[in-house]
Amino acid sequence: MGFARIALAYIADDSPREQWGSEDMPKAKEKTVFVCDSCGNDTAKWEGKCPSCGSWNTLAEVRQGNGYNHRSWMSASRSMAVQLADVSTDDLPRIVTSSEEFNRVLGGGIVPGSLVLVAGDPGIGKSTILLRLAGDIAKSGSAVLYVSGEESASQIKLRADRLGIDGQNLYLLPATDIGDVLSQLDAEPPGLAVVDSIQTLYDRDVPSEPGSLSQIRECTRKLLDWAKARNVPVIVTGHVTKGGDIAGPRVLEHMVDVVLYMEGDPVSSWRILRSVKNRFGSTNEIGVFEMTGNGLQDVLDPSRSLLAERANGAIGSAVVPVLEGTRTLLVEVQALTSPSVLPTPRRVATGIDHNRLLLVCAVLSRRAGIPLANQDVIVNVTGGLKISEPAADLSVALAIVSSYRNEPVDPGLAAVGELGLTGEVRRIPQLERRLQEASRLGFQRCLHPGDPIARESSAAPLQAVSVAHIRQAVGLGLKPQVDVIG
Ligand code: TYD
Ligand code: MG
Repeated sequence: MGFARIALAYIADDSPREQWGSEDMPKAKEKTVFVCDSCGNDTAKWEGKCPSCGSWNTLAEVRQGNGYNHRSWMSASRSMAVQLADVSTDDLPRIVTSSEEFNRVLGGGIVPGSLVLVAGDPGIGKSTILLRLAGDIAKSGSAVLYVSGEESASQIKLRADRLGIDGQNLYLLPATDIGDVLSQLDAEPPGLAVVDSIQTLYDRDVPSEPGSLSQIRECTRKLLDWAKARNVPVIVTGHVTKGGDIAGPRVLEHMVDVVLYMEGDPVSSWRILRSVKNRFGSTNEIGVFEMTGNGLQDVLDPSRSLLAERANGAIGSAVVPVLEGTRTLLVEVQALTSPSVLPTPRRVATGIDHNRLLLVCAVLSRRAGIPLANQDVIVNVTGGLKISEPAADLSVALAIVSSYRNEPVDPGLAAVGELGLTGEVRRIPQLERRLQEASRLGFQRCLHPGDPIARESSAAPLQAVSVAHIRQAVGLGLKPQVDVIG
């Protein structure tokens, strides 16, 4: 594959949209749609105001290529009905990388012909992980094309040196014109293509600036088209907006096969890669990485690493086993309460849903006799993790009570359970898995919701203690208990 160097500068788009309202306005032809740069909605004819979101002057003309056909890559399996019992799952070949965490998130590896989107805040580590991946696959013998609209070849080389990538079989293409990218891809199709980032690409035929929804949509469509036609995987990166959405959210998520979000607290070295959509595997699967001086490294035992910094007997800290896809993680929840000077006390939640925090505070005040009405409450999940399960309620409550009373939660105790408005501890899915993880990490007791079917936990020596009400949980959780009825 030849090495091509293409000017990085955007080609100025000097076709002002204002002209469109004039007589020169292009007429909607067949295979032409007008895409709103604000909401991604498309309409058949041009209008000054988007009929969906009401924004003015945001419709851009997008010509639909005629080669694109969603069905083409599925046609083999669509043409004939197959009995479910006869379907084999082994026929989905995958490119397995050296990163177990990355493979897990993808459901076992990269599926040829798939279009994968890796989205995240700028600076979170998208380019770093993809360069490592590209180096990995190149090393295994298949050529990789790394297209970058953000960095020059020498900048990428510096990064590659840091990551220990020698660069054999890895071809760099600094480019922003999708036409240049496609002609390079067609000239010498690689085994994997990486495009960093989709927002820097533009299509000459679309009259709006790079990064706009219509550009993103059209460039993604062309890459998708190419990936399906050649059966070569393409991985693209995408920046997220301040609101946390991928720029062009629905447009992109609907088109690609896999959507991975890279999350993490910029000040911590932890990075979580989460699959929010996967046509070839389960969603909500996570991969855990640590940013080091030599790039992102897999964290093989995240529970242990997450709890490594936890001080024994720390005040305002509780541990909860949460489910992340097929994996169970023990996570530390921290809380701090302090008398408020504001008429309405502050509630700050990092890593848990703010509304869940409000609920837990209200339940503690009204049902457990913990007066939080004049207390500021700050809750944080360590490691930059985000917990979306209500199963964390009980540990959030214990961490808050611990801080309020200035007494530690029993260091050998984990707690899991959803809180109801009457203070009851509600059942949660897959308790056994959670108990086992707590046991593996050496916890002695785990508070959990009452289970009507009395059963022996296989998580011994951990003692599974069922609690029915928050008051009971606070009584059991904050002081080490000698005689506990399991
Ligand atoms: P980057 O991959 O450029 O982020 P993105 O592509 O998502 O914008 O990540 C850049 C950050 O990662 C930067 O803050 C430096 C840090 N980093 C390391 O800590 N170690 C490394 O080996 C590399 C390559 C980057
Ligand atoms: Mg980058």
